[in-house]
Amino acid sequence: KRKVTVQTFQKMKERGEKISMLTAYDYTMASILDQAGLDAILVGDSASNVMAGNKTTLPLTLDEIIFYGKSVVKGVKRALVVVDMPFGTCSGNPNKSLKSAIRIMKETGADSLKIEGGEEIAADIKKIINAGIPVMGHLGLMPQSINKYGDYSVRAKADAEAEKLKKDALLLQELGCYSITLEKIPASLAQEVATTLHVPVIGIGAGAGADGQVLVVHDMLGMNKGFNPKFVRQYANLYTVINSAVRQYVDDVKASDFPNIQESY
Ligand code: KIV
Ligand code: NA
Repeated sequence: KRKVTVQTFQKMKERGEKISMLTAYDYTMASILDQAGLDAILVGDSASNVMAGNKTTLPLTLDEIIFYGKSVVKGVKRALVVVDMPFGTCSGNPNKSLKSAIRIMKETGADSLKIEGGEEIAADIKKIINAGIPVMGHLGLMPQSINKYGDYSVRAKADAEAEKLKKDALLLQELGCYSITLEKIPASLAQEVATTLHVPVIGIGAGAGADGQVLVVHDMLGMNKGFNPKFVRQYANLYTVINSAVRQYVDDVKASDFPNIQESY
């Protein structure tokens, strides 16, 4: 099947075909997702949480996202690969932001970047897009701003915040973003933005009105015991699968059942 490009994204919106996206941070998982026919893979800075064990996305460095990004790219033939710009690498210093953006693109071989924020970083986004780098915007819940908001609750429920989000979405489209992610906002607002914009809107916890959906792969595969918020549909329970496999292995080793004759040289 042909490689998914940012032009494919646009065509999918035009013909009303929903876009499927998940995160991945390593070669093996990325190959599995790609071979399953997923349209896009996000090397999210959620790697900070699910891979590195941090409480927030803030500690993740440029070098670290580049390591995850190049591992993923090697496993992908068809899906569009999007890499998150980590906290602090795109925040109001356009020349510095462009340098970081170029490093990610050069060193990972990814197809595009995703950047959290609206009007405040318009100059940075413009500069990156002008350099020929496709940018996906990210509005609504922006985990890199957790210290400003204090929690991960639903965003843009109040009118003023919803108005700002709509303005920012239009601005990002005007700047040339090829797509925008909307995280954890009311479904009606996401629906309105998706209808207004001509570029595809990818939702996470943003209802069915978006042009596509993204989830953290560890969440939808049920790998984090006890983490199952309302917006996640759990398609597998890998926690249980892995836990029982490992228990069995421990038992077999203890009982000298593994390895047997056939498993030995
Ligand atoms: O880092 C991430 O996983 C993300 C998605 C949740 C959109 O940005
Ligand atoms: Na992210």
